[in-house]
Amino acid sequence: MKVALQDLVAELEQDVSLYEPDQLRQRIEALDRIETCLFHMPRPQDDAAMAEESALQRRVEAISDQMDAANRELYQEIRAEIRRGDGAKRLLAWAKVYDPAVHADYQLNGVGYDYLDALVTGVLQFDEPDSGIAELAPEMVFYQPTPARFIFDLIQCSALNEHDVLIDLGSGLGHVPLVANICTGARCIGIEIEGVYADCARRSAQALDLKQVTFLQQDVRSADLSEGTVFYLYTPFKGGVLRSVLDMLKAEAGKREIRVCTLGPCTDAVLQEPWLKVQGEQIVDQLTLFRSV
Ligand SMILES: C[S@@+](CC[C@H](N)C(=O)[O-])C[C@H]1O[C@@H](n2cnc3c(N)ncnc32)[C@H](O)[C@@H]1O
Repeated sequence: MKVALQDLVAELEQDVSLYEPDQLRQRIEALDRIETCLFHMPRPQDDAAMAEESALQRRVEAISDQMDAANRELYQEIRAEIRRGDGAKRLLAWAKVYDPAVHADYQLNGVGYDYLDALVTGVLQFDEPDSGIAELAPEMVFYQPTPARFIFDLIQCSALNEHDVLIDLGSGLGHVPLVANICTGARCIGIEIEGVYADCARRSAQALDLKQVTFLQQDVRSADLSEGTVFYLYTPFKGGVLRSVLDMLKAEAGKREIRVCTLGPCTDAVLQEPWLKVQGEQIVDQLTLFRSV
């Protein structure tokens, strides 16, 4: 594996195009390859091997630092565009160049993460909490972010636009409302039971001056859903909690047409709802769109 790392380092040192802003995917993939090689490196057995490894480590650090700096520059540029109210074009352009055929491995992983997640995390710059998270009640699902490519799918398949109000039911750190608002101008609301996550999401919105994104710390079962036109569920709860929320959504659908987007195992339960009609083909591990009937 040391040879593999040496070859990789030599290859990356030659590739000056890697530091151009639009080479984000190549940089993220190169950093992943470096990490895999480092993980499999044998321990050095003597002083000479140790010295050789230290020299290689320094070259790895130099390349990684340069790539991280190029990424940071790209994220800062996009953040400045978002603050000027002009972030949609750039983010949507990244989503458009996303080619699932090139990412067969990620697709095989179902809900795996890829360079679009690095982009979204880098741009939103969450000040991620690592403590103070309360244990969830049974039937409530722990936090896991929607992979970024599904946020762009959600925007496209629901035809989300500035006349909509998107409500993310169990919004975690807020990726979905933040990206959806930046890309479409739709008013977006995140409802999240964990206060630490809701605070963190609010700080991200404030730092980007996103006035049409709101985060509420609440149990969805006691939330006001009356403004929503599009509701998103990345399997935030199951069993009786999901049942209660589906009944609330059904009541909203009695007053106006709504769209519901799901990802993950909750989709099977939502498919059983007679007041919702699935739109298009239903594919495992992909986003599913429903319209109320
Ligand atoms: C799988 S994560 C989804 C996060 C986010 N929607 C996303 O896609 O990036 C589920 C989230 O729902 C939250 N949650 C679970 N039960 C909830 C409830 N009853 N009311 C509000 N939030 C809840 C969890 O704390 C967690 O952050």
